[in-house]
Amino acid sequence: MKTKIWRLHEDSLEMDYQEAVELLKKGEVVAFPTETVYGLGANGLDSAAVAKIFIAKKRPADNPLILHIADKEDIYALVSSVNSTAQALIDHFWPGPLTLVLPKAAGISKLVTAGLDTVAVRMPSNLIARNLIRLANLPIAAPSANISTKPSPTTAFDVLEDMNGSIAGVIDGGGTIIGVESTVIDCTSKVAKILRPGKIGIGELEEILGVVDVDCGTIFNNNTVPCSPGMKYKHYAPKAKMQTFIGKNFLENFTQALNNALKENLEVGILTSEETLKGISENIFVKTWGKRSDKNSLAKNLYSYLREFDRQKVDIILAEGVDEQGIGLAIMNRMIKASAHNVVE
Ligand code: TXA
Ligand code: MG
Repeated sequence: MKTKIWRLHEDSLEMDYQEAVELLKKGEVVAFPTETVYGLGANGLDSAAVAKIFIAKKRPADNPLILHIADKEDIYALVSSVNSTAQALIDHFWPGPLTLVLPKAAGISKLVTAGLDTVAVRMPSNLIARNLIRLANLPIAAPSANISTKPSPTTAFDVLEDMNGSIAGVIDGGGTIIGVESTVIDCTSKVAKILRPGKIGIGELEEILGVVDVDCGTIFNNNTVPCSPGMKYKHYAPKAKMQTFIGKNFLENFTQALNNALKENLEVGILTSEETLKGISENIFVKTWGKRSDKNSLAKNLYSYLREFDRQKVDIILAEGVDEQGIGLAIMNRMIKASAHNVVE
């Protein structure tokens, strides 16, 4: 299959979307930008179309998809009810990087929900995404547009690296502004529970809801022991081996690992903050991923730099972790998985 590419802007005309919209309506898979990462979209009401997502992504069938909508009202057709928790979150955070899990409406494809009786719904803030969804007039099922286990794509180039030839098209809307996926929150019980940390942090959710639970699997405890088995599996991962360094002795441990790797003649990739960079020698492949004091910039660059290291074919990535406040929880959640839990403290 030849994968088409359309370059669109937020102010592109309706006719510029036409081909992508028609392909979606015909049951094909089209990748598109959102504010978080690129999504791999298909008609969420058409099981055969949704099945194509799982094939292109090589995703296990027991991992459910998010349905993306263009307008707040669109949620009512997809869930059996919107409780007051969900309504408060919709009022404050939509459109934006928050995905709500609610009891599903009758008729939602089992393939989308992986057989669960709940469904995940999100209204993205990216206008290209919303225009596409609105013009298709369909809920669009979309996981991140990477092959399973690889880092999520933040540019159309990244999408093509994984999907060229296996999907009908990709809308190139430039780099995504957030860089890590949406926060996923389960609203089905009395106290809402964060299932996946994302751009919207615990504090912001607590401001609206008073109290929120956090699924144990999303948090990293100090003993470097995952509290949920899922945390130990590789995910969001580069090809190179990766090690993440945190805590007080960070620089010492980091430097030692670097010297060891250089002694072994390994090609080293370094992911570090601007603050730390000053102490590191220049003749290795270093990616400064932003200021430690600006975690949004770290989030934005994380996946793209992991992919860049793979293009440079480094053997090992040594990465500086961040604190878990705000979006830091999402960043560390991804880094721990990318490192296959190889975290040095
Ligand atoms: O930012 C994002 O959320 C991106 C963009 C494209 O919107 N999408 C994304 O989708 O990250 P994906 O499929 O890569 O991740 C969806 C997450 C998975 O962890 C999945 O297990 C969870 O949401 N999920 C989906 N439906 C669920 C449900 N009914 N109950 C619990 N978790 C669910
Ligand atoms: Mg994903």
